Amino acid sequence: MTNFPKKDMKKLTFIFLILFPMISQAQFSFDLQGHRGARGLMPENTIPAMIKALDLGVTTLELDLAVTKDGEIIVSHEPWMNPLICLTPEGAQIPAGDHGHNIYKMTFSEVLKYDCGSKTHSGFPKQVNFNVAKPKLADLFEAVEKYVKDFGLPQPNYNIEIKSQPDGDGIYHPVPRDFSDKVFQLINGRIDWERINIQSFDFRVLQYYHKTYPEVVLAMLVEDASKSSEQLHELGFQPQIYSPYFPKLTSEAVAAMHKKGMKVIPWTVNTTEQMEALLDMGVDGIITDYPNLAPKR
Ligand code: G3P
Ligand code: CA
Repeated sequence: MTNFPKKDMKKLTFIFLILFPMISQAQFSFDLQGHRGARGLMPENTIPAMIKALDLGVTTLELDLAVTKDGEIIVSHEPWMNPLICLTPEGAQIPAGDHGHNIYKMTFSEVLKYDCGSKTHSGFPKQVNFNVAKPKLADLFEAVEKYVKDFGLPQPNYNIEIKSQPDGDGIYHPVPRDFSDKVFQLINGRIDWERINIQSFDFRVLQYYHKTYPEVVLAMLVEDASKSSEQLHELGFQPQIYSPYFPKLTSEAVAAMHKKGMKVIPWTVNTTEQMEALLDMGVDGIITDYPNLAPKR
């Protein structure tokens, strides 16, 4: 066995303890966002998906919110148990298209009984599957903040989506004012607002935040990147982030948004080639199910 002289050991310790973490923290020059954590690799919107994304060096965790009957804010893309990803408490399949397992009509302890991680996801064959329940947002924050502290990782930002739409008001979720206030109150004092942005497809939510909590950074979610003027007109103010579905995005559109002072962060970009092309257009960040495929630049 090689005996390292003391001063070489000191050098090695410096490289492993000081330089290595610095190298991994400086990995990305853009905002790499793990979509629903890292949906391509772990069950979506769960604590293990967030931890996986952190291990892969994301700068931001993207996640979606729903509310239970007893007022808990939980992390879920749909306000019902999605038949594609969840099994009933008895372990049975939920028929396709069934939106009857309504989270807004369940208590949190009922939500906990659903397994939303064991089913193989046909859209994500590399996803690791195991029994896991939808978490409370408060518990997710606690787990993530503890993990980065324990492992000396940088604190992530959170891109938090309030999932609502007019025909779901009072049926699948609270009205925008109540939903928005609840989310604000949960975050306030828990996580620094500098690390948070609120995103929504529901312009009512963005308008409410803009009016009530003007200091909160907002991202407008849109499907069609070729209609930004109409979208901004409809919203009625300029948010800090424009976040479109990526295929129709052009370098001209990115430059136009930058000229207005907005960042552009498209979703959901799942191949390295697509990410490279968008970064060449000048986007500020990428939202992806596969943070492991992000180019190192
Ligand atoms: O953050 C953008 C993206 O999450 C929007 O799409 O449907 O996955 O919430 P969705
Ligand atoms: Ca989302």
